[in-house]
Amino acid sequence: MQFRDLQKQYQVLKTNIDDAVHQVLATGNFISGSQVTELEMQLADYIGTKHCITCANGTDALSLALMTWNIGKGDAVFVPDFTFFASGETPAYRGAVPVFVDVEEDTFNISAESLEQAILQVKKEGRLVPRVIITVDLFGQPADYPAISKIAEKYHLLILEDGAQGFGGRIGERMGCSFGDISTTSFFPAKPLGCYGDGGAVFTDNDEWAALLRSYRIHGKGMDKYDNVHIGINSRLDTLQAAILQVKLKAFRESELRDVNQAAERYSCQLSEYVRVPFIKEGFYSSWAQYSILLDSEEERDGLQADLKGKGIPSMIYYPKPMSRQTAFQGMDCVKVDLSITERLCRRVLALPIHPYMELKEQNMVINCIKEFKL
Ligand SMILES: Cc1ncc(COP(=O)(O)O)c(C=O)c1O
Repeated sequence: MQFRDLQKQYQVLKTNIDDAVHQVLATGNFISGSQVTELEMQLADYIGTKHCITCANGTDALSLALMTWNIGKGDAVFVPDFTFFASGETPAYRGAVPVFVDVEEDTFNISAESLEQAILQVKKEGRLVPRVIITVDLFGQPADYPAISKIAEKYHLLILEDGAQGFGGRIGERMGCSFGDISTTSFFPAKPLGCYGDGGAVFTDNDEWAALLRSYRIHGKGMDKYDNVHIGINSRLDTLQAAILQVKLKAFRESELRDVNQAAERYSCQLSEYVRVPFIKEGFYSSWAQYSILLDSEEERDGLQADLKGKGIPSMIYYPKPMSRQTAFQGMDCVKVDLSITERLCRRVLALPIHPYMELKEQNMVINCIKEFKL
């Protein structure tokens, strides 16, 4: 069994993907081919933002946003403690201080309460200027934007939505990747919408920022690539990846998002008596980048993972360590807030295999193994 079965997806989409790839090979426009701009228009249309700027990966997408806002030394950037390293790495790479914030016990997303405490702490200490909140749409569910936006407004902070895992999620009719002043996503193969290599995108409604993002991603270009008006980076999405993504976006919209939600619902119905299943807020919709259950203790979690492995069922721990405990952040000039929920989650969380092409019999194997383990 695969954790996320990309081969099966390829078998289903093979004809269209092969055609799209051959078209690029035939034209030879490997960089900035027409598929890139077409894809950007399709993505902006789906997400409902004015601009979409594709780039080389989700990490660069975050960096490009921080460059656009000129975030750097002396700035505080608030980041959930329970996320992938890139969310905290990118502000630190710019010279800003990532201030780690605890998450909600039920959704695993950034806690508005902990965020406000962290902001007040930074203001009280007076060494850093609070600038940006990086919200992460963890495992596919949008963060609580109604609550976070109020705090951002109150303290005049910008929201950078890290939607690397949140593409396809929504609150009501509003799509994930449209909630930030700038929002980003990743097309890493295992993401809800993945390509066949690295890829990413930035979304915004702001014309001025969009122009800067387009410049920064190609060496700070002005009129053209050889007229350089900013110090930028080289971060383009390849034409081949854009062509593949056009096919995959269609499948994502037509069936994949619906099918992965059905699989998640099946898990939740069957497992809720045995383990803590993911909690989705009223009116929120997840794209299920991960389906993560909570066990009662670390011993129980590790025991279940070993049992699953013994039966050929892959599972993953996202994340084994709070960001604030990563070696790279030790010795950094950190602002301390209580992060005990993240600490507990790291010991108890376990992600199960899930994807739109998961067969009923595969899912039943996972469900039965968990039931047997808990009985
Ligand atoms: C929350 C989050 N942010 C950022 C990234 C970085 O994306 P990429 O791997 O495309 O650079 C990831 C990827 O795993 C992620 O999960």
